[in-house]
Amino acid sequence: MISQIRTFLSQKGNLIGNAVRNVYTSIEKILFPKGLLHRFILIILVPLLLLQAIVLAFFFDRHWDTVRYRLARDVAGEIGTIATLIQSDYLPPEEIGPVIGALNEKLSLQISFQAREVLPQTAPTKDPTTIQALSKEIKALGYPFIIRETDSQRAAITIQLDSGLLHALVPRKRFFSSTVYVFLIWMFGFSVLLFWIAFLFMKNQVRSIERLSRAAELFGRGQTVNSFKPEGATEVRQAGISFIQMRNRIQRYLTERTGMLSGVSHDLRTPLTRMKLQLSMMDQTEAIKDLQEDVSDMEHMLEAYLSFARGEGKERPEQTCLNDLLRDLIDKAVKSGQQIDFHQEGRVQCICRPNELTRAITNILTNAARYARQAQITIGTHRHMARIIIDDDGPGIPLDKRADVFRAFYRLEKSRNTHTGGIGLGLTITRDIILSHGGSIDLSDSPIGGLRVIITLPLAGRTQEGKQI
Ligand SMILES: Nc1ncnc2c1ncn2[C@@H]1O[C@H](COP(=O)(O)OP(=O)(O)OP(=O)(O)O)[C@@H](O)[C@H]1O
Ligand SMILES: [Mg+2]
Repeated sequence: MISQIRTFLSQKGNLIGNAVRNVYTSIEKILFPKGLLHRFILIILVPLLLLQAIVLAFFFDRHWDTVRYRLARDVAGEIGTIATLIQSDYLPPEEIGPVIGALNEKLSLQISFQAREVLPQTAPTKDPTTIQALSKEIKALGYPFIIRETDSQRAAITIQLDSGLLHALVPRKRFFSSTVYVFLIWMFGFSVLLFWIAFLFMKNQVRSIERLSRAAELFGRGQTVNSFKPEGATEVRQAGISFIQMRNRIQRYLTERTGMLSGVSHDLRTPLTRMKLQLSMMDQTEAIKDLQEDVSDMEHMLEAYLSFARGEGKERPEQTCLNDLLRDLIDKAVKSGQQIDFHQEGRVQCICRPNELTRAITNILTNAARYARQAQITIGTHRHMARIIIDDDGPGIPLDKRADVFRAFYRLEKSRNTHTGGIGLGLTITRDIILSHGGSIDLSDSPIGGLRVIITLPLAGRTQEGKQI
């Protein structure tokens, strides 16, 4: 029983903990947004709101109070004058009516007098805020009185004088300043307008940074970005110009590397072919056979150097179904005697250069064939990326050597004997290809005993950060 309660409490605790964590993450996202545009918005919005709050709290509140009390004092003064006139002996009772009538027209008040009436005994009520100032100023006249709002347009005041009751209906505009609201509306309206204009300008600035980052990302994936033009603020424009210069330098370097390596390979091929021909015409002794084997190894090496130097060819990226691409590859490998299991966790589409990707995965399968007995390929998606996992049951690669095997010409087995390994370019080429597709390649331990190669690639229609292109 106790253990059940404990489990229940720990489950509830986990739920509450997760909920608190989610709320905290949401608040953090709002207060400390990661995007540049959101940060810009916050930079403008916070001072704007602070300024308005300060204006409202200090200046505006005091100004509004002053205006309200001044208006109320005027009204109270006029009513007080009439009350004093009625209380005095100068005005005979029959004159009171006509005098008040004449004053009403001038003062835009509705005042009447009821002789010998007495103020009803009502429980004191709290004055609504709109007539608080008026109530305070009437109180200062020193007569007993009742004040209430008859409707939203008027306030009714009844004052007890010695000889009767003085009623006054005061229009709202006489004791309430509506300019305050007008001011508020203007202030708020202008803030929204100014914010909107600032937002449009900022969006433009951010767009130029986004374009630069998109161009850099595409270039990193080996795609052509000739349409990119530096724009925006001077600093962003400068970064754009630097990017173009860097791109040109890299392209020049790649062209030179390809030219040089293909030149060398080409020059070496001719004497090699000649040697091959001459060897085939000689007596086929053991020594000659060994020499022939060495020559054909050299030919293979030259091929590998050439394809490495070529890097990305002229192949254009296209939407490709990775399941089909892998299926073709596996069928070929199985026909040549390799043992491969294929697991598919749904169909996965990618924008890629299919021949290059085929080459990259073939390199890994060749390694599996060379260093292990069987392999297993799994295709699926993970965190908005396509994921290909290739497991084998070979000896694997020790943890401290996993970074080295991606280096060109690096082999775990140092003899450079072609019977115990290859040239050491397979994984280098594979990584080049995967990175140029905006993906990643990682090595780890396989659950079936050997090496696990994990390849991730952006899904079709998504960039690396998971945004739509
Ligand atoms: N599946 C694997 N199991 C064990 N060791 C591996 C595996 N794949 C690669 N290696 C080790 O990593 C080294 C580098 O691999 P890489 O594919 O780059 O070169 P290679 O296979 O020797 O030659 P190449 O692929 O150019 O013909 C290999 O020489 C081998 O020692
Ligand atoms: Mg290899």
